[in-house]
Amino acid sequence: MVNGAELASEVARRSREAREIISSYIHKTPLEESATFSKMSNSRVYLKYENLQKTGAFKVRGALYKVYKIKDEYRGVVAASAGNHAQGVAYAGKIFGLKTVIVMPESASISKIEATKSYGAEVVLAGRVYDETLQVAKKIAEERGYALIHAFDDLDVMAGQGTIAYELLEQLDSFDVVVAPIGGGGLISGLASVLHAEAPEVKIYGVEPAAAPKTLKSLEEGRPIFIEPRPTIADGLVVKKIGSLTFEIIKTLVSGVVLVEEDELAHSIYLLLERGKVLAEGAGAASLAAMIHGKLPIAGNTSIGIISGGNIDLTHIYRIILRGLSKAGRLAKISGYVPDAPGQLKTILEVIASHRGNVIGIFHDRTSQALPAWNALVSITFEVPGRETIARILSELKERGYEFWLSD
Ligand SMILES: Cc1ncc(COP(=O)(O)O)c(C=O)c1O
Repeated sequence: MVNGAELASEVARRSREAREIISSYIHKTPLEESATFSKMSNSRVYLKYENLQKTGAFKVRGALYKVYKIKDEYRGVVAASAGNHAQGVAYAGKIFGLKTVIVMPESASISKIEATKSYGAEVVLAGRVYDETLQVAKKIAEERGYALIHAFDDLDVMAGQGTIAYELLEQLDSFDVVVAPIGGGGLISGLASVLHAEAPEVKIYGVEPAAAPKTLKSLEEGRPIFIEPRPTIADGLVVKKIGSLTFEIIKTLVSGVVLVEEDELAHSIYLLLERGKVLAEGAGAASLAAMIHGKLPIAGNTSIGIISGGNIDLTHIYRIILRGLSKAGRLAKISGYVPDAPGQLKTILEVIASHRGNVIGIFHDRTSQALPAWNALVSITFEVPGRETIARILSELKERGYEFWLSD
């Protein structure tokens, strides 16, 4: 078995070549300092915006280099993915003129299917979970004589992702830490390999959702192991088992892997939107989530977080914004029992309005058997300038004889 250091030096070597080949097909994405996130993490924070990359994620880097390398041997390429790898391979196939088949699970969202088709790929829907989808992709590759492009456990794919590190070295004279999300480990392995070769003093940290801690568990076991992931907003980081090549590189070069909770991911997406005017998907916001929620030893350092992608389902954003506003004390839902008599609700709404609360929803139940006699249950959702206002509204309602509480 080849060891992690040898694999990494090979990835770094290929990554130098990848840079030459792919740079005319991709964006050199911005690297920007953030005063807000620096303050929140006691570190000088820079963010690398790969959400602004072609196809909306860094994945296109690895796909382009891999497809370039095999383009003369095969007539077409196949990939199994419902996410950013699908779009990356579809884009790369189009650039290098290869037929492309993307196999997606039957549950894939319409927006992802349409985006992939828009790059000219043939989309096949098959399987309920990734493993089933992958089996179908393998079969198609065999039948048609196409190359199957792995999403992470491939030295060329890692080398493509590693081109981000060359950009960082050009964009910033000196930095201490790079933080990256981990799905199957291709991104972090590429980054770690290049940085180890070019700037070995830089520390690399990996982040994964607590719902899918496959790398952390594998490192504890000393070998890649299967986990059963729970649902997470960072769907790009859901993999049952880390790659065997990526595991070797991570074990050798990555300084630590930390977990982030769903609330921390949602909060980071919200903050990126509100403060940075930047749209990140769950996986894309994971690095920042770890940096601003005190998960990493970065105080006093210059740290770079990779915002790896921005392809979030728009129906999720609405819920994330509501949760974010609620966490920031700008949106409240209160409930209470109110005597079922004319004028009561009006008084309550007047109290809320007098504190500049703006009501956006009311629920009123007077029929439930569980209610105290002659009472109605009222739940009111409203926007407020800040958390203190919610407390003031609750206490004024109490003074007027209404017992209300915060509900969710
Ligand atoms: C936006 C985003 N970030 C991070 C990752 C994880 O990358 P890797 O599987 O190379 O670890 C993915 C994987 O699909 C992704 O789509």
